[in-house]
Amino acid sequence: MQKLIIKGGKRLRGEISLQGCKNSALPIIAASLLCGEDCTLHNCPELTDVYSAARILNCLGCRCGFSGNTVMVDSSEVTGTEIPEVLMREMRSSIIFMGAMLGRMGECTVSVPGGCELGPRPIDMHLAAMRKMGVDIREGGGRIICRAAGGRAKGAKINLSFPSVGATENIILCAVTADGETVVNNAAREPEICDLCGFLRACGARISGDGESRIVIEGQLKLTGCEYSIMPDRIAGATYLSMTAASGGEIILKNACVQDMEPFLTVLEQTGCSIYTGGQNIYLRSGPRLRAVPDRIRTMPHPGFPTDAQAVLMAALTVADGTSVFEENIFDCRYRHTDALVKMGADIQVLGKVAVVKGVSALSGACVEATDLRGGAAMAAAALAAEGTSEITRICHIDRGYEKFEESIKAIGGEICRV
Ligand code: EPZ
Repeated sequence: MQKLIIKGGKRLRGEISLQGCKNSALPIIAASLLCGEDCTLHNCPELTDVYSAARILNCLGCRCGFSGNTVMVDSSEVTGTEIPEVLMREMRSSIIFMGAMLGRMGECTVSVPGGCELGPRPIDMHLAAMRKMGVDIREGGGRIICRAAGGRAKGAKINLSFPSVGATENIILCAVTADGETVVNNAAREPEICDLCGFLRACGARISGDGESRIVIEGQLKLTGCEYSIMPDRIAGATYLSMTAASGGEIILKNACVQDMEPFLTVLEQTGCSIYTGGQNIYLRSGPRLRAVPDRIRTMPHPGFPTDAQAVLMAALTVADGTSVFEENIFDCRYRHTDALVKMGADIQVLGKVAVVKGVSALSGACVEATDLRGGAAMAAAALAAEGTSEITRICHIDRGYEKFEESIKAIGGEICRV
């Protein structure tokens, strides 16, 4: 099993060009199934989750070719309607293929998806929405068998009880080729939803309201292929900024979508870092010591503070002056990284959804195990700020979401290697 060795204590300084966004690449790859023609996707990150999505397309009969950050998908032929359980378990986003398969084939057989263990991650909202769109769903023996009446889903009015990102994506994917109009109320407003809709519109879909709480989709009989460039990854951006801030360093983040990162940048600025933005660049300079964030950091659906950036910011605040308080409102179990940070000398008390982080004067290197994707990245951020050497095992979690992780960190002067 591979591990990362990190020698900490250096001030990070340099430039990183941000990778393409994992959380929009995955639904967009699923969406390419709907086109029935060639699609070319640029700025697609090279990640294990992206390869898992390609394997799912392959097993449905589509062809995928990779050339660096460009992915070509030919979905002209589809030969299957079932995703084997082993592929479903590789990542949470496998469930997004449900909407795409219903949209293309009118039926599918899937199972409960895998992904990061962040507490219970039900799919009840996905299933309820599909049922509302005229899909008959039978569950048994671990399989979920879905069939749209008459082979085509029907437009419907769907009110989500929570703005779930995945459920919103599944509804959109099913609705773009459904019969009639679909309205999603209380839809997720994450930038990745807009990216998915941007791709679908380039394929001829009729969608309006993405980025707002009410999305309207007018079903079309057929979509076409297209060429599309995936947006930059705001969470990878938050990760490299947090790492640099924790080290007292300086960074230029290139190819960033500044507006999408505002909810994170607003909080990071409160730590005393100087942040300047211009075009697609973010410049950050950190003083020798960060300050604690005075207000409670509450994770919320977009445009609130993103849950995916909670762990990496926490890593930086372990070495800030004063006490910061986090409140995790999206997932029940998203503090699994805190034990590793405490092992490195952090002072963190977790009580339910609240974590109280008292800044310490320094962290020290330790051997830790990545618990999940963002938790693993937080451990790397802490290790870079710590005195001495750290080892991080189970880095398969990190590889699911960060492209060229060590190269990026080396580019800003971090001492890191994979063995
Ligand atoms: C997406 O997960 C992201 N994953 C997550 O990023 C991200 O943390 C999350 O949205 C929130 O922003 C991808 O895009 C691949 P949700 P998703 O449905 O779609 C509950 C990362 O680190 N819920 O918005 O699974 C659910 O349990 C990952 O890159 C139901 O109860 O998130 C959770 O508490 C991790 N029933 C909340 O809603 C449902 O049917 C938000 O989940 C669906 C969700």
